[in-house]
Amino acid sequence: MTLAIQARGLVKHFGEVKALNGIDLDVEQGKVVGLLGPNGSGKTTTVRILSTLLRPDSGTATIGGHDVVQDPDAVRQLIGLTGQYAAVDQYLTGRENLELFGRLFHLSKKDASARADELLHRFDLTEAADRGIKGYSGGMRRRLDLAASLIGNPSVLFLDEPTTGLDPRSRQGMWEVIEDLVSEGTTVLLTTQYLEEADQLASKIVVLDHGSVIAQGTADELKTQVGGDRIEIDVVDSVDAQRAGDALASLASGAITTDATTGKIVIPVTGGSTAIVSAVRVLDEQSIGIADIALRRPTLDDVFLSLTGHATEQPVESATPSTGRRGRRGRN
Ligand SMILES: Nc1ncnc2c1ncn2[C@@H]1O[C@H](COP(=O)(O)OP(=O)(O)OP(=O)(O)O)[C@@H](O)[C@H]1O
Ligand SMILES: [Mg+2]
Repeated sequence: MTLAIQARGLVKHFGEVKALNGIDLDVEQGKVVGLLGPNGSGKTTTVRILSTLLRPDSGTATIGGHDVVQDPDAVRQLIGLTGQYAAVDQYLTGRENLELFGRLFHLSKKDASARADELLHRFDLTEAADRGIKGYSGGMRRRLDLAASLIGNPSVLFLDEPTTGLDPRSRQGMWEVIEDLVSEGTTVLLTTQYLEEADQLASKIVVLDHGSVIAQGTADELKTQVGGDRIEIDVVDSVDAQRAGDALASLASGAITTDATTGKIVIPVTGGSTAIVSAVRVLDEQSIGIADIALRRPTLDDVFLSLTGHATEQPVESATPSTGRRGRRGRN
């Protein structure tokens, strides 16, 4: 099977800065892959190379089997791109912008106009179609931008931070549009700093830091990698904590921690909700009172923090080191 996107060993320097340090990437047809990483980790550079806007210093990449350096025209036939910053013209109306993009794709005037109408309707912009986009809200501009990138019916779509700056409702709307495109068979590579966005949309997540892939997998796989599910229990009487911990030993998939002062017990488990039912039953049999019991799954935020040593949306420079990985970081 031909992969929709394949990259091997992509390296890119900007002067002294090594923006990409050997990126490999495989994206299957019809899937959404989320490129996740802090500011300056190389997300946009990767997207620009894959969409033929930038040549790598070394390494290769193909889109639908066509090499991005050797055969950029064939690649451009297949792709659509919504950049991190708006590409639409401020002084034109929404409709004029889409018609212009249509003409750039060599559609006839009539076809460009029909395609513009169709996309305006699809993105809920019909009412605003004949207004200058200077007056559009951020969400409307992002939708217009996405509409423009769909003019040529791309089979592979690159979305560079498609929802940055949008309010939660507009973001949700954008997610629905992306999900629709994927259900129609479009392959999507999206970059994002929002972990919940990757969680919601992406079947595979690739985490970049300083131009290298530092982890990849499904959201669940990445979460398991940082520790998996755990049950957190507060017993009513803290003197029962140790006894409770011992009684629950058979449910644990790793070391149980008990705190005899607070009466808190943390049990790593697999099989989440089944384990919580068993835990309640065991404690009940032991007549140990439960003040609180909860299943806690690591979030992608936990993953990100543990992998990169800093939370998202925080400049790398000001991040405080919180894991041992910090030592091997730094540009080279
Ligand atoms: N045209 C350029 N000239 C010089 N340096 C660049 C250029 N483009 C990117 N860089 C540098 O390359 C590195 C990677 O940048 P890139 O834009 O790919 O990161 P990013 O992950 O998209 O970040 P952000 O989350 O801020 O969009 C950064 O150190 C950046 O400063
Ligand atoms: Mg970027």
